[in-house]
Amino acid sequence: MVDTTPSLAGLPPAIEDPARAPAVVLEPVDAAGVAGFPAARERWLEDFRRHIYGHAPEDGWRLDARSDRRAAVWGGHAWREEIVVDLATERGSRSWRILVHRPALPGPVPVLLGLNFAGNHTTTPDPWPTLTPAWVPVREAEGSPGGKAREADRGILARRWPFAELVGAGFAVATVYSGEIEPDRPDGWRDGLRPLFPDADPDRAPADAWGTLAVWAFGLRRSLDALLAVAPWADPARLAVVGHSRMGKSALWAAAQDPRIAAVLANDSGCTGAAIARRRMGERQVHLNARFPHWCCRASRAFDEREADLPVDQHQLLACIAPRIVHVASAEQDLWADPDGELLACVHAGPAWTLHGEPGFGPVPDPVPLDRTIGGRIRYHRRPGPHDLTATDWHRFLGTLRDHGW
Ligand code: GCU
Repeated sequence: MVDTTPSLAGLPPAIEDPARAPAVVLEPVDAAGVAGFPAARERWLEDFRRHIYGHAPEDGWRLDARSDRRAAVWGGHAWREEIVVDLATERGSRSWRILVHRPALPGPVPVLLGLNFAGNHTTTPDPWPTLTPAWVPVREAEGSPGGKAREADRGILARRWPFAELVGAGFAVATVYSGEIEPDRPDGWRDGLRPLFPDADPDRAPADAWGTLAVWAFGLRRSLDALLAVAPWADPARLAVVGHSRMGKSALWAAAQDPRIAAVLANDSGCTGAAIARRRMGERQVHLNARFPHWCCRASRAFDEREADLPVDQHQLLACIAPRIVHVASAEQDLWADPDGELLACVHAGPAWTLHGEPGFGPVPDPVPLDRTIGGRIRYHRRPGPHDLTATDWHRFLGTLRDHGW
């Protein structure tokens, strides 16, 4: 099913019939050997910065974090907490809130951190989280008009955030509203983190300056800084980032760059996420750049219909995360995100794990199973149904983390 808002009119038709998938040649990720791998990884990261996501600032900010509010929940078995993060430069400051649900244990507990689409208050029906002061998008399916956050929007996306189950399984779950990092609109840069740094205006900035996906990835990494500073209960060796769809793209990009992220769980991330660009199946760069011109850097437009000229492909994005834990998930009907292309990226990234003496991807059963996870320390699952983050996806993600002793 193709997501048709904003419109695809005038763009090349998306090809979704698996029978029409071209065979693609992908650069092997283990060509440089184990000794050459760190340099190869740096080269891939730089290519992704230059041509897809853009360069984020590497320094020049001050970060302050504090635990602002806290309440016991679920009969005292868990805490709910809001951590306020302030990021400041000489140009000004911005702040955002991390909503945490965690077991009432001294720790150390593993942490799942993920951006949400519409505000922390939409992730639980409980009237506790602070209503975001940031702009919120229209959520047609959930009956929310967008604009200013409303009491009536509490919990509209709670189905994607099974906090009680995750905390019951021993995890702390931390979520941040992506719109407090940067609103998801072409002019959203004005109200996010970009004005804290030089070249904020994307039309005047260098063509390889950061786009929204990179700003969100930066926000995830700064949120980790904040957690590590003020959350003594968080286990610094078991930090995972999780993301659905556009937030899955940002989660992968954050993990590719930041070795503190020990695991990434990327759900239906598709184009510029886990899907191989060269297949040109489902959403392509041309569609993404036309409908979401703010997500990637301007330089990415040169590859709109020229995927084969990209110096990297998305299996190399996954390989940048080796030998840490990667779990890519697709939905069978989500052909817009190219499930076969996401699987292919895992297969071709696998040798980056074997190179490090870790289980790679292994053989792919035919047909691809819909009832289990496949792979080694880089894994994949495909579940029946459409584009969404469901209980089944969480169940399989937790299975992977448990298998690795989390
Ligand atoms: C659109 C977009 C995708 C994105 C998705 C989402 O469908 O084209 O790239 O992943 O929205 O974030 O739900």
